[in-house]
Amino acid sequence: MKFQNINTFLLVLAIISVTGLIFLGYTSTSVGYKDKRFCLNLTKEHQENSKLQLPQGISYKQPSVVGPDGKVIATTPWLSPIVWEGTFDPFLIDTIYKQQNITIATTVFALGKYTQFLKDFLESAEQNYFIGFRVHYYVFTDQPEQVPEVKLGEERQLTVLKVPSSNRWQEITLRRMEKLEKLIESRLVSEADYIFSLDVDTKFYGRWGSESLGRLVGVIHPGYYQTPREQFPYERRPESQAFIPHAEGDYYYGGAVIGGLVKDVHEAAKTCREQLDIDAAKSIEAAWQEESHLNKYFLYNKPSKVLSPEYLWQDFKPHTNEVKIIRFSQVIKNYAAVRPNP
Ligand SMILES: *[C@@H]1O[C@H](CO)[C@@H](O)[C@H](O)[C@H]1NC(C)=O
Ligand SMILES: *[C@@H]1O[C@H](CO)[C@@H](O)[C@H](O)[C@H]1NC(C)=O
Repeated sequence: MKFQNINTFLLVLAIISVTGLIFLGYTSTSVGYKDKRFCLNLTKEHQENSKLQLPQGISYKQPSVVGPDGKVIATTPWLSPIVWEGTFDPFLIDTIYKQQNITIATTVFALGKYTQFLKDFLESAEQNYFIGFRVHYYVFTDQPEQVPEVKLGEERQLTVLKVPSSNRWQEITLRRMEKLEKLIESRLVSEADYIFSLDVDTKFYGRWGSESLGRLVGVIHPGYYQTPREQFPYERRPESQAFIPHAEGDYYYGGAVIGGLVKDVHEAAKTCREQLDIDAAKSIEAAWQEESHLNKYFLYNKPSKVLSPEYLWQDFKPHTNEVKIIRFSQVIKNYAAVRPNP
């Protein structure tokens, strides 16, 4: 008797499951709108599961960026790709991502005299950055009238967002995460799929395309890719939320680039903003402000894709053997002429 009940129960369960599957299949193929929502939910779940979090205080060897043979290393020890020239087929990867009909939001902060960098930044981006994709630039500035007219390609647009002026560059840096967090909440969740937040005192010299896309993306700073981690310019005072002990660290990430899915970059920006606020309440400013907090975030929330220093160089740095192509680089600037304070 009992046995039969169980059998009946299982049969009913099977029928319900099959009916459910048929129903889902039916709605997702016949109604485009539902199809989209269904897929979005799956993606969401997938994102949750693929976070690469590491507890603090775990000891392991510092990963190398260049091997003993002088060859570049193309994966992290947690198996995220490190993007170097030669590790991807630009045409193939762009063709795949173009199928996804994505929008890439790109934010830059151009306050005070930094507006002078916008022209080269935007013009060189129009030559090199996500060519053939929908790109929406969001320019934060206190001087909207200084934003130059730059001819944008098809499906590319620019929005100017006015922010208050500041007389300390450190303050400007400290507020960026907050601005990013709020912009994502108010607009980007519905306007974009991926986001890159980039420094404006830069120029593109080479292709930067869909190979850079990932859930959470950081760039290896060009100044420290062969430096032992105990010498990284991390924040070393335990009182700061950005503190990293000498025995920990993977790469020193550049604060000039942060990217990924809108939701994941929001999480990173929100966390960094919260940590910056805690420090501010204690009157502590981390060694490299936002960059220090970002390094802390990336150490315990590993990027799913790491960009090699090809994606962040510095114009004053001589070329090296490992870096075959410079795609994006910080221009040489006269700090005294562009910063509101020393
Ligand atoms: C997607 O997920 C949200 C929250 O997790 C839920 O409210 C919504 O009903 C789901 N949509 C579909 C189509 O399953
Ligand atoms: C692609 O995305 C844009 C902007 O989000 C939208 O207007 C357009 O309808 C989409 N096209 C397709 C084929 O889904």
